[in-house]
Amino acid sequence: MPTSTPALPLIDLRSDTVTRPTPAMLAAMWAAPVGDDVYEEDPTVRRLEEAAAARFGMEAGLFCPSGTMTNQIAIKAHTEPLSEVICEQTAHVYLWEVGGIAFHSSASVALLVGDRGRLTAAQVEAAIRPDNVHYPTTRLVCLENTHNRGGGSCYSWDDMAAISEVAKRHGLARHLDGARIFNALVATGQRSEDYNQVFDSISVCLSKGLGAPVGSVLLGTQAFIQKCKRIRKVMGGGWRQAGYLAAAGLYALENNVDRLADDHRRAARLAEVLRQQPYVTEVLAPETNLVIFRLHERQPSADFLAALEAQGIRASSFGPQWIRFVTHLDVDDAMMGRIEAALSMVNS
Ligand SMILES: Cc1ncc(COP(=O)(O)O)c(C=O)c1O
Repeated sequence: MPTSTPALPLIDLRSDTVTRPTPAMLAAMWAAPVGDDVYEEDPTVRRLEEAAAARFGMEAGLFCPSGTMTNQIAIKAHTEPLSEVICEQTAHVYLWEVGGIAFHSSASVALLVGDRGRLTAAQVEAAIRPDNVHYPTTRLVCLENTHNRGGGSCYSWDDMAAISEVAKRHGLARHLDGARIFNALVATGQRSEDYNQVFDSISVCLSKGLGAPVGSVLLGTQAFIQKCKRIRKVMGGGWRQAGYLAAAGLYALENNVDRLADDHRRAARLAEVLRQQPYVTEVLAPETNLVIFRLHERQPSADFLAALEAQGIRASSFGPQWIRFVTHLDVDDAMMGRIEAALSMVNS
């Protein structure tokens, strides 16, 4: 009987959101005690919210389906119509959340140009509106750590503290889009428990590098989270036996944080290999798990992506001639060998 060689598994470098739950995570989900979370009767959701809040020195948490929802709820809770949010021009909250700040909060946005997405305290201070009837009222500063569009760049503690000091002095709220905050913590060695000193609210995603299938937790004071719960409800985000999903998040927090260092090591190795390729003109030095690089103008992005796809490797375009690779839970060292071989086979 003819035998066929089994196809090699697809290597998906498009995002760290593509991971599938492991058998151990599924077992934790299967075993979760649950209840109706709108009645506040789901013990697993409660455990997740408390565990996430405790990690960041915050009083309370709110489990939501997505990072877009936690960010937009927080922005709405911190602002009102005719107010303004300060953020970087490529911040996820502005660029990739469907104009949600205008839609949900009727607020204006002051866009600043950062260094790989990072703002400085001086920039933030200069963007605060004077008290003048012609202007919106500045209410909120939004930072993103790590910064997606900046190639997984991290804030130093001193820079975050300086921005926080400016915000406090001017009576502004401080929100962190921490979709990949654990990557930043692992890369910098900062302590999550100290984050309550520099932010009023934090959105933490469980479905990116941590490998949960769904979910983000919004953190803040008890009063803030109570306000956010109403906003979640009006957005249709009140959910029922969400404990099955919260169990995946708890498993991820307990088991998948330290291993992010492996993703960072693999991203650094990919950057090294990419720098040796004649068809690559620039690689942003990876600080965490995102590798962003530019192809030579003779190398069309579509051809490059098709050549990788032919080797069972999927990646995505990140602007004209720019490509992004993301390392994550479902990329192992054996796959790294396949990626390196495929990169050296691309015809330039
Ligand atoms: C920095 C950042 N913030 C927020 C989000 C939104 O998360 P979600 O896809 O869960 O809505 C993402 C998604 O990739 C992100 O990269």
